[in-house]
Amino acid sequence: MSSSTSSASTVPPFDLVVFGGTGDLAARKLFPALFRRCRRTPLPASARIIGVSRRALSREAYQAVVREAICAHVKDAAADPASLAEFLDRVSYCAVDATGEGGWSALAVLLGEAPEHLRTFYFAVSPDLFAPLSRHLRQFDLVRPDSHVVLEKPLGKDGESARAVNAAVGEVFNESQIFRIDHYLGKETVQNLMALRFANRMFEPLWNSTHIDHIQITVAEDLGVGERGGYYDTAGALRDMVQNHILQLLCLVAMEPPDAFEADAVRDEKLKVLKALKRIDECNVEHLTVRGQYRSGASAGQPVPGYLDELGAGESNTETFVAIKAELANWRWAGVPFYLRTGKRLAGRTSEIVIHFRPISHSIFDASAGRISQNRLVIRLQPNEGMTLEIMIKNPGPGQMHLQRIPLDMSFAEAYGGANSPDAYERLLMDAIRGNQTLFMRHDEVATAWRWIDPILTAWEATTQRAHAYAAGTWGPSGAIALIERDGRTWHEDAE
Ligand code: BG6
Repeated sequence: MSSSTSSASTVPPFDLVVFGGTGDLAARKLFPALFRRCRRTPLPASARIIGVSRRALSREAYQAVVREAICAHVKDAAADPASLAEFLDRVSYCAVDATGEGGWSALAVLLGEAPEHLRTFYFAVSPDLFAPLSRHLRQFDLVRPDSHVVLEKPLGKDGESARAVNAAVGEVFNESQIFRIDHYLGKETVQNLMALRFANRMFEPLWNSTHIDHIQITVAEDLGVGERGGYYDTAGALRDMVQNHILQLLCLVAMEPPDAFEADAVRDEKLKVLKALKRIDECNVEHLTVRGQYRSGASAGQPVPGYLDELGAGESNTETFVAIKAELANWRWAGVPFYLRTGKRLAGRTSEIVIHFRPISHSIFDASAGRISQNRLVIRLQPNEGMTLEIMIKNPGPGQMHLQRIPLDMSFAEAYGGANSPDAYERLLMDAIRGNQTLFMRHDEVATAWRWIDPILTAWEATTQRAHAYAAGTWGPSGAIALIERDGRTWHEDAE
């Protein structure tokens, strides 16, 4: 596939300052994405990437760190020394104390070397540091009206802390300068969801409670928490995945057509969806949510440890799995359940949205033709990005009418000649530098998402019920199956 217009179009000369420059996110996602982008379409000759962290490192030592990260995460990078050298040439480093004064003057000098460059500050650090970083950027006069700041999730741990973070950053940057990243919005298929809905005539008339029975959104991971246990144990699946990625997916599936594909038009419509989510609290939390925590089990045929072993702790009630039956109180979706599910150490890595259409209103066929299954549209976010529309046809051949459901299958990689589409971070980083906020969350979206999540967290705290155990390598606790089966429905992978 030719890379998307967004990722391939030009960017102005820039300085990208990555706070958390020696951290996990920078190593796993940001530098590999920048390298790939640079190789795909060269960045402006003078563009610079400046890593920042507390550690004292020379520029050469930092470049070695970045080289190692890229080689570990971009499979053919080591075999392309010319591109690697060209990329590393752009990389500088500055040791800065986020909470103190140390290093900021040196950063100011470095940035002052290219006064004409657009500045983007990427906060790939804990949200506790967002306020001091913003304050210091202002104190050292590093923020200009055309500068941008990218905020990594988690944006707080509840509504109140998110408000405090937004307020602190908002004292230095105005809303049009702030890019709250949710990398799911940068995924190719997630954007394709908008193309599917709003660039085709055939789906929109059916996209409502008259024709849709229910919707499932699953983001399943086969990996455990690994090295991230320290962070994860304070978050859990609800904060880590549902508050952001899954609710954003729900918004894109459920929103009304925006009047244009523009930042505020799209975000206004997503906000309305978040506002329409029916409240879940202590009155209904046990009925509408199930949380789980993985125990040891097997993944890809290999034994794997349980969550507590990985954490090195004897005790924790943090959920590594959550399933929720959500509903929207609005005209289009009243009565259509959205079954949401995410977890670690599940049976596979699958992220998908499944639209289950209602049964036909009347069958002209008699029982010998077989059962008429409901149409389903499966939108696969990963792996094997693509979509499948499941329709009924006549089983070919002579004799009586026999009906059968078959998939009309489309894999994006096959359809576009197997070329790789850009990674989510590749696109989002360039959008942030350019100043396109369409794929970023506005402050009120974040606040409204927390307004739905907070009562669930409070209700969980109030119950004595614990997260249900599930064996690693399965689809989560049995309660999650019961959650949907009691409505006479099944999770997609369990359906025939
Ligand atoms: C992150 C979460 O936001 O998304 C991780 O913090 C999770 O816990 C990751 O593993 C999943 O992203 P992806 O792109 O691999 O599906």
